[in-house]
Amino acid sequence: MKVAKSDFFKYQTQTTPNPLGLEVDFARGNYIYDNKGIKYLDFVAGVSACNLGHCHPVVEKSIIKQLKKYMHVMVYGEFIQKKSVQFCKLLAGEFPENLQNIYLTNSGTEAIEGAIKLAKSVTGRQEIISASNSYHGSTQGSLSVLGKEAQKKAFRPLIPSIKFITYNNEEEINAITHKTAAVVLETIQGGAGFILPKNEYLKKVKNRCEQVGCLLILDEIQTGFGRTGTLFGFEKFEVIPDILVIGKAMANGLPVGAFCSAKKYMEQMQQQTKLGHITTFGGNAVIASAAYATLKVLLKSKLIHQVKEKELLFRKYLTHPKIKKINGTGLMLAIILETSNEANELVLKCLERKLILFWLLWETRAVRISPPLTITKKEIKKGCQIILNVLDEI
Ligand SMILES: Cc1ncc(COP(=O)(O)O)c(C=O)c1O
Repeated sequence: MKVAKSDFFKYQTQTTPNPLGLEVDFARGNYIYDNKGIKYLDFVAGVSACNLGHCHPVVEKSIIKQLKKYMHVMVYGEFIQKKSVQFCKLLAGEFPENLQNIYLTNSGTEAIEGAIKLAKSVTGRQEIISASNSYHGSTQGSLSVLGKEAQKKAFRPLIPSIKFITYNNEEEINAITHKTAAVVLETIQGGAGFILPKNEYLKKVKNRCEQVGCLLILDEIQTGFGRTGTLFGFEKFEVIPDILVIGKAMANGLPVGAFCSAKKYMEQMQQQTKLGHITTFGGNAVIASAAYATLKVLLKSKLIHQVKEKELLFRKYLTHPKIKKINGTGLMLAIILETSNEANELVLKCLERKLILFWLLWETRAVRISPPLTITKKEIKKGCQIILNVLDEI
């Protein structure tokens, strides 16, 4: 039965005034199909969440197999559940020792909440330092460390003792002191325009954290699981955080997140406060089965190794006088145009031509390109041609 568009507007809350309104029937691989059977090439991947493409058969099979056994019993780290343990062990195998203890959550923002609590608990300090123009999620703790006042004003008071520094500004690193519990940074700033750390900025922040005895939290919710050409961005920038926060592509489209740290820190939080962080569904059996299958496929396949080559193809095709620059790295790219109007038009007109693009949060002249890592060279060429044709017209 067809769903009336008017019911969508009447009964479901929207987050933007003019939703794209694509009526989705199903999605497979690098395409989303609408209710008329028309297929759209997806350069967004559920906002960097479906790195293996939609409904990857191995992930799908793993979920169905788990569904037939059980969906949910209890998490809280009480019962031993095969898929969660297998996932955590496989992921830990990719990490340095100080990140090998993994707390599974429902979402990225919940994982940020957990990471902030962990840092406060471990250091006994209250101050958190974040970066202006950052995005870390929409719950109150994550919102407190989010670096855009306009987004927070209506919801104050938020958590006290939060300070902001300018990302990539080395002088401001001195604001990190012995009072600081943690510094929380995106490895690559997303909403700000896919801004990369420059001049070993993250290394310098980490050094300062070590000097003053505070923890470095890296938010890799968007950069994780191969998106930038390494499994995680911290490998690329050669900085090991004290707490790593992940989510989005972790279960290739099911809701999940995690904060990862040293076992001694997690134990400290647990001993200090009984049930220091609890969550009813975080990483339950179905989600964990998807996460485990996703990670196995990612590690076995050549997808991550092919990211650089695909990035270069995008950069080769996307030359146009209206494109001022392309920010980002790997398959986390942002086309920067001259005005936000152009960015708006580009997204809307490409949708008419069956190519899905999307905007970034704070950089309004940007259009995101974050396709599934499974995107083919042919599809990259086809999608870029649509973009160039639209740019010629606007
Ligand atoms: C860098 C970053 N941190 C945190 C979040 C919040 O994650 P979630 O939407 O799963 O709560 C996002 C989501 O867009 C993100 O990109």
